[in-house]
Amino acid sequence: MDELDEIRSLRAELEEHNRRYYVDDAPTISDYEYDALMRRLEELEAKHPEAQGPSPTQHVGGRASEKFAPVRHAVPLESLNDVFSVDELAAFVQRVDAALEESHEYDVEPKIDGLSIALEYENGVFVRGATRGDGQVGEDVTENLLTVRSLPKRLKNAPAELTVRGEVYMARETFERQNEQRELEGKPLLANPRNAAAGSLRQLDPAVAAERELDVIVYNIQSSSREYATHTETLDALRGMGFDVVPYALCTSVDECVRQIELIGDGREQLRYDIDGAVVKVNSLAQRTALGSTAKAPRWAAAYKYPPEKKESVVRDIIIQVGRTGVLTPKAVVEPVRLAGTTVTNATLHNQDFIAALDIRIGDTVVVQKAGEIIPEVLEVKKDARPDWAVPFEFPTVCPVCGSSVVRDEDGAAIRCTGAECPAQRLRNIVHFASREAMDIEGLGTGVAESLINAGLIQSPADIYYLDAQSVAALDRMGKRSAEKLLAAIENSKTRGLARLLCAFGIRQVGSKAGKVLARCFPDLDSLKNANLMELVNIPDIGPITAEYLVDWFQSPQSEHLIERLRAAGVDFTSHEEAADTRFAGMTFVLTGTLPTYTRDEAGAIIERLGGKTSSSVSKKTTYVLAGENAGSKLTKAEQLGIKIIDEAEFRAMAE
Ligand code: IVH
Repeated sequence: MDELDEIRSLRAELEEHNRRYYVDDAPTISDYEYDALMRRLEELEAKHPEAQGPSPTQHVGGRASEKFAPVRHAVPLESLNDVFSVDELAAFVQRVDAALEESHEYDVEPKIDGLSIALEYENGVFVRGATRGDGQVGEDVTENLLTVRSLPKRLKNAPAELTVRGEVYMARETFERQNEQRELEGKPLLANPRNAAAGSLRQLDPAVAAERELDVIVYNIQSSSREYATHTETLDALRGMGFDVVPYALCTSVDECVRQIELIGDGREQLRYDIDGAVVKVNSLAQRTALGSTAKAPRWAAAYKYPPEKKESVVRDIIIQVGRTGVLTPKAVVEPVRLAGTTVTNATLHNQDFIAALDIRIGDTVVVQKAGEIIPEVLEVKKDARPDWAVPFEFPTVCPVCGSSVVRDEDGAAIRCTGAECPAQRLRNIVHFASREAMDIEGLGTGVAESLINAGLIQSPADIYYLDAQSVAALDRMGKRSAEKLLAAIENSKTRGLARLLCAFGIRQVGSKAGKVLARCFPDLDSLKNANLMELVNIPDIGPITAEYLVDWFQSPQSEHLIERLRAAGVDFTSHEEAADTRFAGMTFVLTGTLPTYTRDEAGAIIERLGGKTSSSVSKKTTYVLAGENAGSKLTKAEQLGIKIIDEAEFRAMAE
């Protein structure tokens, strides 16, 4: 086999391994073997620059640039004018009729709710893909598009030059499967297929994009070196080249268009993708050119937008879930209804006030709507359909899980369980502790955490670090290999450092951002623990309420116990964040007299936050004496020793 043949065969082989790894999640060779093949291909490609074409060295496993490069679209990616009613659609058709003398046809297609994309092919080979951006300039997302299975990388019988426009989307089935998996792993859920697709396509790491399993469907030729007469002809040609193409129907009147729009709307549940409308387009390409465009959109097309789907259902029950921070969240369990492509069985009721405002009762007929997010909401109550027996809902006064009393937040609508040992909180605490933004323990999601708790193996997050492989392997659906994998992930998590550890503790208002802020100001957990309220309040971005939550948390015996068990397990308590401003490091300040605006504590906290120390007596080691009104003997001593004396204004300037 000559080297060019070897390149071809290596490319095919590596593509196949990529597919097994990224798509099937079932690799058949080790990373080491994969790397060796990749290295050989890189070597050969360097030697043979003439061996052009898509290559695994250029995408999956390769590194995407830090930022996506801008791409100017040769033909702008225009948007569409929306119509929201049959009348508005009729007005659009009338405008077209008035402008065109000859007879004309319309093509009606579903409007896919994804992400607009331009795909460039040269001699049938996919060379570049870019997002819509502002329509003129988009972002080069070729690397990520190369991981999309339904994107043909090489076309059959293609024109020499071709740019196609389409939509990248996440299939509904994929979306639901991925969310089930995420729920099990304790990862945050994807909000909806569109956001999932958008987020994935703009991932800097193509491997992450690949994991999300996106799809592409096309609906327009932007430019081509081959001539076509009609839009439907281009769609048929695109299908012949190997694209997944949007389905279409040809219509000759408004009535036919409306009928088709209704058919698409009724059939939306059978489609693999979400749609948010139907597009009506003039079919003849010559007539399109004659009609032209306004500054914003073509005159030859209109997007009919379906209203968000609403349906009536009956409230079977109102249940209360207890979250990690103990908040009781009410949910309506409703008679299952199909809504915008999924079966809805519950709807959020937000909080006690929401239930009271709408007077939602068990037995009520309610209108539910799904407005693009996962959890549907209750819009209104059909009071006239209320059964006689329906009584106002009484919000529980004790936690439905542990029976502890509940309290309402002083400044909000949330009602919280006060039970420190509440099992519902315990589970969520552990799942949160292990979550990606916290200690990032892969494989420790809700399902596994629940089994560990039920088997009596863990109660608090610290117990995770004392698990043994044998007991874990004995759990249902576990086995030796997964147990070992889990324990390795747990071991690995010990080194995450202070910022993530703080986030993992689940202290109220201390998430990953506050965790990082604190880890920049304190070298380790113990110094944070010893900080007083004043020091914490003085940290920018840490408000007085958060500071109080922190102090309270560190004072509780449970936290003390947790910290000591984590310490004994060898969890790293030190900060990995770059230290905050330490401009007073190595300096000692003595405060004397009354300062015009700061109290001594406040000034002291500022000094400490910036790395300095305070002392009560003046000595040769004193760097500055910060003097206010009625300063006494300390000032005299400082003068004698020749120590620099500053007032509040100077101090403020130094600290600012
Ligand atoms: S045609 C210039 N057809 O809808 C005409 N667009 O609201 C090009 N879209 O940004 C658009 N499905 O991303 C067309 N079958 C379809 C479509 C479609 C989805 C998107 C497209 C555009 C947006 C406009």
